[in-house]
Amino acid sequence: VTARLTLDPHFAVGTINRRIFGSFVEHLGRCVYDGIYEPGHATADDEGFRGDVIDLVKELGTTTIRYPGGNFVSGFKWEDSVGPREDRPRRLDLAWHSTETNEIGLHEFSSWLKKVDSELMLAINLGTRGVEEALDLVEYTNIRSGSTLSDQRIANGQVEPFGVTMWCLGNEMDGPWQLGHRNAEDYGKIASQTAKALRQLDDRVELVVCGSSGAQMPTFGSWERTVLQHSYDDVDYISCHAYYEEKGGDLTSFLASGVNMDHFIEAVVATADSVKAELRSDKQINISFDEWNVWYIDRYQSVDRITDVEEWPVAPRLLEDVYSVADAVVFGSLLISLLKHADRVQSASLAQLVNVIAPIMTEPGGDSWRQTTFFPFATTSRLAQGTVLEVRLESDTHETKEYGTVATVDAVATVDAEAGTAAVFLVNRSETDEATVTIDMAALGDLRLLEASTLADDDVYAANTLADQNRVGLTPNTSAVIADGVITITLPAVSWSAVSLG
Ligand code: AHR
Repeated sequence: VTARLTLDPHFAVGTINRRIFGSFVEHLGRCVYDGIYEPGHATADDEGFRGDVIDLVKELGTTTIRYPGGNFVSGFKWEDSVGPREDRPRRLDLAWHSTETNEIGLHEFSSWLKKVDSELMLAINLGTRGVEEALDLVEYTNIRSGSTLSDQRIANGQVEPFGVTMWCLGNEMDGPWQLGHRNAEDYGKIASQTAKALRQLDDRVELVVCGSSGAQMPTFGSWERTVLQHSYDDVDYISCHAYYEEKGGDLTSFLASGVNMDHFIEAVVATADSVKAELRSDKQINISFDEWNVWYIDRYQSVDRITDVEEWPVAPRLLEDVYSVADAVVFGSLLISLLKHADRVQSASLAQLVNVIAPIMTEPGGDSWRQTTFFPFATTSRLAQGTVLEVRLESDTHETKEYGTVATVDAVATVDAEAGTAAVFLVNRSETDEATVTIDMAALGDLRLLEASTLADDDVYAANTLADQNRVGLTPNTSAVIADGVITITLPAVSWSAVSLG
């Protein structure tokens, strides 16, 4: 396989909004309890947060973290999660058939976010609740003082407002599984009313209206159109959610999942822009890709749920997917897809962060470790700085059942003019052949090769587990050389790589 890329600083896609390196913490399974929070753990700090997990989240390089759901938020009463802990109610979580103790709530989570240098993004319950409760929450979080709810926040120990900018107007409201599921007309109206009300209270908020919970939804496209026809002037972003998995042994199609993500983003942009034209608006709606990952949903759906409501457990093991090398290669290609659309994808959340379809795993009272997907995220977040460049890509192609003919190599490049650095991220989707890639970056000036690393393995299903925590990692790619502004690099079959220059 061969591929050739040409980079030129004059051809930029857009500036990278660092919010695209966001993640997602839901009260689901062991993400919060026994994940980020485990008071009895040897590394726990004075608030009960695991120090080893804090270190790993910092190494991962997250920027904004969406909270507290997900499907969980559509039945959540935020008031349950503030005030003295001993008074907080235990609630039944209808989404995940679990019991929520509310031991961790808004104040505690916000304190944890400071420890991991990340911004809070909140989701509002538009499933069982409405405009009034949303207003109450924004009054509690964002108003300085002098009103009942802002003073209640102060009495609960938080003098400064939380100052939350990013708000999701509900979660996956198009999904029949969602508590309070609505059709596009009804949701578009309630989203518009809620958005207008929130802006009356705090005009600094940035609002995300729910798009489809996946491009495979039967209402995809018409949902976005109708929802935006109602809410275009009131919101800033429309959400996308996408999960990929290898189905029926079709690794070839799975490896090309990034093609699907490219089309998904481009379809949502086209729909938003057509509503813009219809409304003769000057405003542009961008994308907040609020949930993305590899997720073996079929495995989750094949496990029997606990039906006896009196037995719904606290923090059960749910959605604890173990990620392989192939999963991490697809994952890295999804990051490439997000970056390629940096002009319109202004925010994104890797779903999720710890234990639940996560790059970080923990054992109660024991170790924490990096899944294979940890490496592409941490490296991309660290190296993708500044501006995304258009990549003139000429690659060999191959056939897939799901997506037809696809480029075997995909890539994206970034340049940080101020720092004098650049980076290229590449994926080789071939299952059998290595790829020789030449990257002409002479137009970027005289740059030296700083680092080239690759994630690959002879066993594409190798993974990191409790018993073998460091089985898979990044290895230096010693094939990379630069001469006269042209890099040559060999990419193993089924691999993800990053090259940095400065
Ligand atoms: O991330 C897991 C779940 O996936 C979220 O709760 C929901 O929004 C989506 O269906």
